[in-house]
Amino acid sequence: MSPRSRRPAPVVLSLLSVALTALAARADDELFADFEGADYGSWVATGNAFGNAPAKGSLPNQQPVGGFRGQGLVNSYLGGDASTGTLTSPPFLVAKPYLNFLVGGGAHDGKTCVNVVVDGKTVRSATGRDDETLSMATFDLAEFAGKQARIRIVDDDTGGWGHVNADHFVFSDTAATPPVVAVIPDASRLYDETWRPQFHFTARENWLNDPNGLVWLDGEFHLFFQHNPSGRNWGNMTWGHAVSRDLFHWQQLDHALYPDRFGTMFSGSAVVDRRNTSGFGKPGRVPMVAIYTAAGGTSEASKGMPFTQCIAYSLDKGRTWTKHEANPVVPNVGDGDRDPKVFWHEPTRRWIMPLYVGEKEPAKDGKTRTRNRLHFHTSPDLKTWSFASKFAEDLYECPGLVRLRGARGPADWVLWGASGEYWVGTFDGREFRAATPRLRGDHGANAYAAQAYDDLPDHRVVLVTWMNGGKYPGMPFNQQMGLPVTLELRDTPEGPRLRKWPVAELGGLDDGLAFRFRNARLAEVASALARVDLELDDIQLALPAGRDWRLEIRGIPIDWRHADGKLRVRGREAALHPRNGAVSLRLVLDRTSLETFADDGLVVFSDCFLPPPNQRHLKIAMDGADDAPVSCEIHRLRSAWRP
Ligand code: FRU
Repeated sequence: MSPRSRRPAPVVLSLLSVALTALAARADDELFADFEGADYGSWVATGNAFGNAPAKGSLPNQQPVGGFRGQGLVNSYLGGDASTGTLTSPPFLVAKPYLNFLVGGGAHDGKTCVNVVVDGKTVRSATGRDDETLSMATFDLAEFAGKQARIRIVDDDTGGWGHVNADHFVFSDTAATPPVVAVIPDASRLYDETWRPQFHFTARENWLNDPNGLVWLDGEFHLFFQHNPSGRNWGNMTWGHAVSRDLFHWQQLDHALYPDRFGTMFSGSAVVDRRNTSGFGKPGRVPMVAIYTAAGGTSEASKGMPFTQCIAYSLDKGRTWTKHEANPVVPNVGDGDRDPKVFWHEPTRRWIMPLYVGEKEPAKDGKTRTRNRLHFHTSPDLKTWSFASKFAEDLYECPGLVRLRGARGPADWVLWGASGEYWVGTFDGREFRAATPRLRGDHGANAYAAQAYDDLPDHRVVLVTWMNGGKYPGMPFNQQMGLPVTLELRDTPEGPRLRKWPVAELGGLDDGLAFRFRNARLAEVASALARVDLELDDIQLALPAGRDWRLEIRGIPIDWRHADGKLRVRGREAALHPRNGAVSLRLVLDRTSLETFADDGLVVFSDCFLPPPNQRHLKIAMDGADDAPVSCEIHRLRSAWRP
């Protein structure tokens, strides 16, 4: 990696926030409850989840519970996840600014949590992280000084991870971890809440899913996205809208497309119609055209309507939109037809629309079943569409089709579906022919419904993925996008493969080189790393391919086993090719996500996690080989939300 920083010689930064992670009891700390007794004392239990006494560790059928203090803790797994209840403390006077405590169990916002209640209102709330190991949390109670408060431990969830663990409540003058900043509105902390990603896109508030309408015009990247304007769960699909000049500093604008009588606004794409094929343009005003699914039947207003494909246009760079008067432009043909991804195909001078169609066919039992298929339509003007061909493989939702640079053979188009599965092949303007089997585009737990910018002036193709399934308990927003990555093809011994690599614009957030060791002894690197706190970092590592090793980054395990040549991130695995005897990794770490790029970007894992406040390091362990050569370079990244 070429040094991007103009700062003086790299040093090991070790001084940051050691104080924050200190767990040692302080002289002025006041222990409020540690659940070491034979019963709950003056705490009051309701329901059946807490029983009438603290637990002594794990309960029957529970995974091992750890991280609590002493012998006892609160554990609402009594009777399994199905039980519910509350455990409420006696009132106390808020006399110290901080409440430090341990919490574990489910990450269900408001349902498996430790709350502080003042004047009958919940003013602070923290959940576990879907983890049986309790970790430290801190509430800042300074604003309630002199008031009476209670702690209420809540288990109101009966599904998976429907329980809460808690222990060791201490009033203190010192925050043991950065205080939890949660839903409880705090405008001053907008975009810096406890679990707000700092350089991955999130909506200011509420739920988001798929990236939509990725398009560039006059220096602005547009990111439209599936958004629920009125809640933190999926629903009321509306197109949100944000713009950026560098793919990292986003400004969220007004919503672009609202539900109408044809349905709520499901996923789709946008194009800049430079040739004004649609006729929507006006002199000097190039039309931006959105092609989207109207999801009939998903709202009261669209009851009984099918899913159809519609268009809308904007003459002011996406700020305001007019829906086409002759919508829909593609009628319903199957089951839940959706997610049109339109692009211009210069050789045939046609617009191309890959579209997901659930094809209904009779099944043996007399019922019908649905096959997941991709239909290609073409159009001269975005308004009139003709069916061109079908892709015969199973492909579900959110198709993408782009031509990429980097392969020597004739197969240079890549087709994908929502789960990231892809094929490399040829496309003649009508039909896609696969030249590879189905391949995996992402090996992590949190990648779905990716879409690409495929009309950029510098001819890059840039992919943005929804990191589905991340957890953000207590936050005003829900879900995040993935890091924008450049797509290319690479020839490998197995054939052409997709390469993903963080876009160069990430360098704009580089806050300097914090750590660099080249071919140093493992023991030396590992002990220096123990002094480096991580939160927002771009990390390059090279480790020997001939040995087994295990990394842990903020508690996330990454293992390499040389015998099978597989890398495992949190237990999910992918085979890769070592180069020059080494396995090289690039790890991009944000507050709640880790993206792992291995094999020069041919193997990618996208993962969301809830960071344990006290696990802030990168650890390396290798089967006793203290002398093995290791390289590690860490660049700090800046938050994109701060000026
Ligand atoms: C994929 C998806 C799309 C659909 C959208 C609705 O995540 O199911 O197929 O258009 O989400 O929000």
